[in-house]
This record gives sequence, structure tokens and C-alpha cells, in this order.
Amino acid sequence: MVQNHGQQTNEGTDRNAAPVMAQTGALPGMFSRYKSSVEQELYKAVPGSGAGTGSSEAYRLLRYHLGWVDQQGADMDSSLSQGKALRPTLCLFACDALANDFTKALPAAAALELIHNFSLIHDDIQDRDVERRHQPTVWHLWGIPKALSAGNAMQCTGDLAMLNVADLGVAPETALRVSSILTESYIEMIQGQCLDLEFESRTDIKADEYLYMIACKTGALIRSALEIGALLATDDAATVQAFARFGEYLGRAFQIRDDYLGIWGDEATLGKATGNDIRRRKKSYPVVYALEQASGQAMNELLRIYGQDELDEDDVQRVLAVLDEVGSRENAQRLTEEAAAQAMDALRPVSLPNWAQTEAEDLIDFLARREY
Ligand code: IPE
Ligand code: IPE
Ligand code: MG
Ligand code: MG
Repeated sequence: MVQNHGQQTNEGTDRNAAPVMAQTGALPGMFSRYKSSVEQELYKAVPGSGAGTGSSEAYRLLRYHLGWVDQQGADMDSSLSQGKALRPTLCLFACDALANDFTKALPAAAALELIHNFSLIHDDIQDRDVERRHQPTVWHLWGIPKALSAGNAMQCTGDLAMLNVADLGVAPETALRVSSILTESYIEMIQGQCLDLEFESRTDIKADEYLYMIACKTGALIRSALEIGALLATDDAATVQAFARFGEYLGRAFQIRDDYLGIWGDEATLGKATGNDIRRRKKSYPVVYALEQASGQAMNELLRIYGQDELDEDDVQRVLAVLDEVGSRENAQRLTEEAAAQAMDALRPVSLPNWAQTEAEDLIDFLARREY
């Protein structure tokens, strides 16, 4: 599938429109260019979807989580209940930017999105979040045992989707390499999730430890999306490495912005409640910064509040006030922007076509300022 990037595609994407879209908070142009291809690949990968395949009970929960069907299993078509498809978009973009063709990366793109969704089903159990993408979470509707199985099944569909790369003329050693990059990255992601949970009961988390935790829980999959996309387009190791570094910094910017939105985002836009990270004693970046900066009475209060197993509404309000006092909000955004600039720098050694350079810049801009 070779794209003509200078013209409108059948998704209505015009590269000149991207900066305007970024300002209004909508997804930048590269998302819509790959959207229908990603969807088609996902439909192929998830059993029970598509015509004539029946309605397997086991996969209903997966299709619900993906936003394709409602709680009863009836078809749904609302972009609000579906994810942004960031990781597949990044993977296809890398391949497209380097080879002017993203077809070979489609199985990996689907695999990345499925692995991401596996992590979200389990993450909502771990974080006890009852809402995601404007919908009740899987565990909240069907209970933890079924949600665990749904997450596991989602992971398996991701692993299987990746195998389709072998049908597209990709050399067997490259197919094995991208598959192992994906698996290694999601092992890292799981390790990051374990650290995130361990940090809940600690108050001595330093910025470096926090950055390592998010590099694992969020950065690894975003990095592997770009690395895999690049590897499927070129065997130039320095180029692949530059895309991987780009992904590391994008992942950092993305998660710090996620932390920001989890506290100061708009619930209606975000599709879930804010404040839960604080309620759950998450060491999101604004809290880590406050624990490093606060002194005197404010610090004593933070230590008292975080020394409890459960935070009540007064505690949450007091933490919010301390975050304000020490400037956590501004500092979180400053660190996001810094990571965004580092992402751009990481890509500089690669000579990209103009359209790809512009789209990379728009993407970074969007990720650093997104509202959802
Ligand atoms: C949410 O990721 C989880 C994080 C790693 C922060 P996204 O914001 O990409 O989730 P969806 O798929 O678009 O809902
Ligand atoms: C996201 O963690 C990381 C993974 C799911 C692997 P968060 O818990 O910070 O993400 P949201 O805010 O619930 O989407
Ligand atoms: Mg979490
Ligand atoms: Mg969560």
C-alpha cells in the first residue's frame, strides 16, 4: 500500500491540515491515514468479529473492551469508546517514512494495539478504575476473574497477529526479530506495572526511579512500535536505533502528560474520572515532584496522608493543594515539553522526506499537549 502523502487520501487526510488539527486537540493527520487499515487488521486478528464468525462468548469481552460492541454484544460505532491507536500508528508511520509503504508493518501494528489493550484490561483491575474510554471497565462489569482471562486472551491474539508478518515476504530472521522485540518490550511493560504498584506504598521515590518506571510501563511498547516499524523498512542499524530513541522520549512525554491529565484533565474529554491516581497513592510525576520539593508543614502532611492505606476526599484535596503550592502542574508540563524536544532531537540524524518530518513534529506537539 504505497501512499501519496502530498494529496488527500481516502481517509481525507491532508498533511497541511495537521497543525490546525493539533491546535484544536484532534488527532493529527497521520492517525486518520492509517485508521481503516489498522481496523481491518484488528478485525482479522480478533476471533468472533466480522461476518459469519458467530458470537463467541469468550471474545465478547475483548470486542467490548475494543469499543466494537456494547455490553450485550450488539455492534457499536462510537470513536469515543475506542482508543487512539497510537502504537500502531507510530509503527506504520516509521515503516512508511522509511520505505514509502506501510503494508509490511500491518501485522505488527495490530499486534501492538492488542498487546496495549491487554495491558489496559489488566491495568484497570490493578488500578481499580471503573471507567475507561467513556465506558465501564471490563472487570467492573464482569468481575476480576473474567477480566483476567479477557486480558490473557487479548495478549494471545496479539502474539498470533504478529505471526502474520511471515506471509508478507518478510525474511524469516526479520520476522523473528520483530516478534522478539515486541515480546521483550511487553515483558518490560509488565515489570513497569509491578514497579508502579510497588511505588504506591512508598514515599521515597526519586525522579530517576519514576522515569525508569514509566520507561518500562509505557515507554517500552511505544519504543518497540517505532523500532519494529523501522526494522521492517530498513536494515540500517543507526536509523532503527534513532527511531527507537525517538520512541523512548515520546513514551516519556506521553506518560508524564497522562499523569497530568489524570489529575488536571477534563473528565468529559478524558472519558474517565480524574483524581483516582491520587486516591490510589500513585507516584505519578506531580506527586513525585511534590514529595521532593515540599518542606515543613506541607511535607509532614504529605507523609501523614501517604502513610495511610486509604485516602479520603479531604486527603485528596490536601494533596491537590500541596501540588499547587510547590508548582507540580507547571513542572510536569515543563518535563513533558523537555521530553518532546528530546524526541525531536533523537530523530534528527535520520534524513526523512519532508512530509514525514512535518508529521513527526505535529505528532510530538500533539502528544505534549493532548487533552485525551
Ligand atoms: C493509555 O494509553 C495508557 C498509557 C500507557 C498511558 P492510551 O492513551 O494510548 O490509550 P488509548 O488506547 O488511546 O485509550
Ligand atoms: C499505563 O498506566 C501503563 C499500562 C497500562 C501498561 P496508567 O495506569 O498510568 O494508565 P491509565 O491512565 O490508567 O490509562
Ligand atoms: Mg496503572
Ligand atoms: Mg491505570
